[in-house]
Amino acid sequence: MSSEEVDDEGGVWFVLEKASLEVAKVGKNYQLLNCDDHANFLRKHKRDPATVRPDIVHQALLAILDSPLNKAGKLKGLYVLTDSKVLIQVNPHIRIPRTFKRFCGLMVQLLQKLSIRASNGPEKLLRVVKQPVTKHLPVGARYVGLSYSAPKVIKLHDYVAAMGLKQKMVFVVGAMAHGKIEADYIEDLIAVSEYPLSAACCIGRICNALEQQYKIL
Ligand SMILES: C[S@@+](CC[C@H](N)C(=O)[O-])C[C@H]1O[C@@H](n2cnc3c(N)ncnc32)[C@H](O)[C@@H]1O
Repeated sequence: MSSEEVDDEGGVWFVLEKASLEVAKVGKNYQLLNCDDHANFLRKHKRDPATVRPDIVHQALLAILDSPLNKAGKLKGLYVLTDSKVLIQVNPHIRIPRTFKRFCGLMVQLLQKLSIRASNGPEKLLRVVKQPVTKHLPVGARYVGLSYSAPKVIKLHDYVAAMGLKQKMVFVVGAMAHGKIEADYIEDLIAVSEYPLSAACCIGRICNALEQQYKIL
């Protein structure tokens, strides 16, 4: 931590909802389904390829894990809930593959073995855990859902500042192409822009507001 950063008891958790992470046997191999490589396969199985977008969760994870917020140790937990209700716990110390192809390979491995260990020790970097996600989230945190169609558009910097440094915060962001998050534990549903954003852009806004709040440069 640099001398400029603020020490406190708060911290941030993210939940990425409705992520499209699905493994299927295509030809001889198990693969992570995606709209570009498996359009014919998906249509053959009466699925709309436009909804099969694991690239959204890949970009969202990179946006969270690469953030100065995470580097400063403020990211306390990260969960991905797939649209088939598999809950994945992501260790904030993981280095997610930067290329989509390698990301797909890692997800296939995870969904088959149910956990991925660090190569240099016993630490689990990715783990399928039991639902509900609330069991893994801190008591007394502020649970905030993000949606373009929320009744209020707020200035995120003011919103975060009003909560104070000691407040634990959980942000729930959709990792799907269409539809809305459906987390019944959310206390506040907010829009952070007048425009529909990508999940990664929305996360960038959240991280930026929190970095200012915690004085992380
Ligand atoms: C690609 S969008 C999903 C598209 C979906 N039609 C929607 O607008 O919610 C991914 C996620 O980014 C977040 N998001 C997008 N635009 C937003 C906005 N203006 N305010 C708050 N969250 C937003 C929501 O959590 C959304 O589920």
